[in-house]
Amino acid sequence: MSFTKDFLWGGATAANQYEGGVFEGGAGLSTADVMTNGSHTVRRQVTWRKENGETGSTPLCFGSAERHLPEGAIPVQLEDKKYYYPSHIASDFYHHWKEDIRLCAEEGFNCLRFSVKWSRLFPNGDDETVNEEGVRFYREIFEECKKKGIEPVVTLLHYENPLAFAQKYNGWDSRYLVDAYVRYAKTCFERFDGLVKYYLTFNEINCIDAAPYVTAGLIHADPQNIANAAFHQFLATALTVKEAHENYPDISVGMMLACGPVYAATADPADQLLALQANNQTLFYSDVQMLGRYPDYKLKEYERNGITLPLEDGDLETIALYPCDFLSFSVYGSHVVTCHDENAEAGEGNGGTQAHMVKNPYLKTNAWGWATDPQCLRITLNTLFDRYHCDLFCVENGIGWNDVMENGTVHDDYRIDYMRANIQSMKDAVEQDGIPLMGYLYWGCVDMVSNGEGEMAKRYGQIYVDADNYGQGTFKRSLKDSYYWYKKCILSNGEDLD
Ligand code: BG6
Repeated sequence: MSFTKDFLWGGATAANQYEGGVFEGGAGLSTADVMTNGSHTVRRQVTWRKENGETGSTPLCFGSAERHLPEGAIPVQLEDKKYYYPSHIASDFYHHWKEDIRLCAEEGFNCLRFSVKWSRLFPNGDDETVNEEGVRFYREIFEECKKKGIEPVVTLLHYENPLAFAQKYNGWDSRYLVDAYVRYAKTCFERFDGLVKYYLTFNEINCIDAAPYVTAGLIHADPQNIANAAFHQFLATALTVKEAHENYPDISVGMMLACGPVYAATADPADQLLALQANNQTLFYSDVQMLGRYPDYKLKEYERNGITLPLEDGDLETIALYPCDFLSFSVYGSHVVTCHDENAEAGEGNGGTQAHMVKNPYLKTNAWGWATDPQCLRITLNTLFDRYHCDLFCVENGIGWNDVMENGTVHDDYRIDYMRANIQSMKDAVEQDGIPLMGYLYWGCVDMVSNGEGEMAKRYGQIYVDADNYGQGTFKRSLKDSYYWYKKCILSNGEDLD
């Protein structure tokens, strides 16, 4: 047997893509709740209003080069039929949570990843008292998980921040958010005590560079604002780890990194250097949070670009003293860079596109241009373990597809093939390379709104949700072929991949 007896098998979700119920239970709006829907070719927009009443929208999303709302504009929800906000209903987990947890338990899951919507507990992010209805909602979910033998993993912040923070403080650009976040994290520790053991601090923290509004609520994001936001999130993470270690010894706090190895297209040393540098753009975030210090290559880059860190006394010591307990990551595919083909069509995929990226001729892509590369999971596991020698947890891996429902089911062989190959790659890393792995969570186990496009058509689930891109449908859940395949795989603890 390659996987440990207590290996965590399951699926992963995020409130802004799955939960819905945005106007129920006393929740406040988040930054995701003012993002419109989009598609592979149309960017998602953030809607805004200026003091003089002017309104509009700007694509502050993944894949967009925009980094600013117009001067004086603040993000708001607009009552205009031309804007549709997919997070408001999403997969309506708010009203289907018991059924979804039951279906996942029957699939054999012993683990489920959720994110808590910060503005459901504190509608403005920093309210004096916690919204008890929000606490009750999540407690019931975690209690139900426990009853069904499922270990909940909680992401404290997954691509949404209380909207008020974006409006008032330019999000994580401001140090004000550090204390507010730590207070929110402490509230979760206290109110979900005994129910939740694993917390992740910031989903795909390294995506601040690609999507500063989505990850950190920045409505103005020059490189200095981005460096500030990353620094504040590092500090908030360290203080959250400190709180857990001092007062909740049973809790483990992990960081979360979007991984997708970057390969050099040729043996030209110049391409190799580009690949090294591109990988460092990702690993910088885990270097800080697992090793407790800013790496020299980043400090030098900041120096060259005139960027300074918003340091106060003791901050670097805090970051050094409280690295994360484990490293969790997402892996969907890989990227390729070269300096030989400036005009080549860029490859797409998780984490957005970067300079010098090109398509990989050896890999197949899905309809959204995401390349499938099972071996990159093994490569990622080796890279991370060699560098950090820590516990690793794959908390996202999956494939989006325009599934077709036929006679009450979906024959998603492509998804089964993807999972089989990816799980095999992870198994090779464990068996042949000796990598300690805590678990594997399939992304979007129940269909949900895609993050990049804000559409339902890009489905990842093993459980189908009857809803279209505009939240129309019965929201009935149906089981796809991949549901039965994954169940069989889990039952054999990853031995049966046929
Ligand atoms: C990860 C995110 O980057 O990729 C998820 O953590 C996201 O929130 C997932 O849904 C897949 O991306 P997309 O854009 O296809 O939903």
